[in-house]
Formats: sequence, C-alpha cells, structure tokens
Amino acid sequence: MSFQIAIDGPAGAGKSTIARKTASELGFLYIDTGAMYRALGLYILDRSIPLDDEAAIEASLPGADIQLTMENGEQHVLLNGCDVNGRIRTEEAGMAASKVSTYRAVRKKLVECQQKIAGSLDVIMDGRDIGTVVLKNAPLKIFLTASPHIRALRRKEDLALRGTAADLQEIEEDIRKRDEQDMNRAESPLRQAEDAVCIDSSDLTIDEVTDKILALVRERRGSAS
Ligand code: DC
Repeated sequence: MSFQIAIDGPAGAGKSTIARKTASELGFLYIDTGAMYRALGLYILDRSIPLDDEAAIEASLPGADIQLTMENGEQHVLLNGCDVNGRIRTEEAGMAASKVSTYRAVRKKLVECQQKIAGSLDVIMDGRDIGTVVLKNAPLKIFLTASPHIRALRRKEDLALRGTAADLQEIEEDIRKRDEQDMNRAESPLRQAEDAVCIDSSDLTIDEVTDKILALVRERRGSAS
C-alpha cells in the first residue's frame, strides 16, 4: 500500500530541503508544488498580464502547460516545454506565484494536476494546501514552520549560495507579505490541517527535523499494517 506525506507551511520554513532529504531517505517521489505555482506566475509575468486581473489570468490558463520531470533525481518544471527551474527561483516569481495562487481557477488546474501525479505512488509533497486539500487522506501530515526572522536569514543564505546578494530586512518584509497573502486568501488559505503534526524548525537542524519525520513515518506505517 502506498504512503503519502503532506508537508505544508509558510515560505522559507525549509519545506523543500526537508522534503527532498526525507524523500531520498525513504525512496519516495518528491513533488514541490510551489514550483508549479511559480511557473504559472512566470507565465503570467511573461505575458505582461496584470497580476490583479483575475479574468484575464483565468482566460490565459488553457495556454499554460506545466509538467514535472525528474533528471538525476531532481525535479524540473517545464512551462510549455521549456525548463524554467532557474527562472522560477526569483523573489519576483515567488510574489507572482503567491498572487496568482489566490485565484480559484488557478488552484483548480494545479490541484488536479498534483493529484494526478501523486496517484497511488509513495510521495512526499510540499506546499500550502497539501494536507487540507490535495492529499486530504495522507496518513502523515506535517506543518513545518519557523519564525519570520529565521526564515529570512535562511533565504538570504540560500540566495548568497546562488550568487545573489540581498538585504535581510527586505527579505523579511517580503516573507511577512507573502505569509499575509497566503494565510488570508479566500481559496485554500495556508493553515494547519487538524490532523497535522506541527514542527517548529527555528532551533532545529535539517537532520533533526528529518529524523523527527522519519520517526513519525515508522510509527504511522507500523500502526497502518
Ligand atoms: O513554496 P513556494 O514559496 O515555492 O510557493 C510559492 C507560492 O505559491 C506561495 O507563496 C503560495 C503558492 N502556493 C500555494 O498557494 N499552494 C501550494 N500548494 C504551493 C504554493
């Protein structure tokens, strides 16, 4: 029987790092749903459609084909056949993703796509609505969080590793704005599922968080068999 792990939480809580590591330990498929919203945000930016024009965005959706592929164990996002993995990682793409993800038609399109990919595979999927909407029946749901300051520090380090200098205060401001947008939208707002386990990673290392999740997997798998 397949086992699905849902990880939700605010921007910069370490979801993708932790999910990727846990997936590799367990031999599960890792699906980063934020990358799909980012690709769609990019599609809208590339067409110069105003981010607040919901009707125009909805009308443009049939032209956006978003696919995930795996290369050397790494997820790649294809937007209309083009690999946009590099382009989706900017703050601009993140903000555009956060904005377009508030629209019902956008969510419907991407949620259907995510559910199709997950099918009945062993997957670990991260995002904002995985435990509450996409994989509602997942036997293990994690809500991963950390303080805005710690999340900003981590993002700054991440950007520095990719050769981009950024101002800590600006990043923290962006993170707070994104939290505000993701938690207060009408459609599938970011919230902890009732049956999710909350992990605050502010004072934990990547290995400590991963170990906690692996222990939960062992426990839940044991009780499922
Ligand atoms: O996880 P991320 O920062 O790459 O996600 C970018 C934005 O996409 C995020 O601000 C909100 C949106 N998103 C969403 O609404 N639902 C998801 N399952 C994943 C991301």
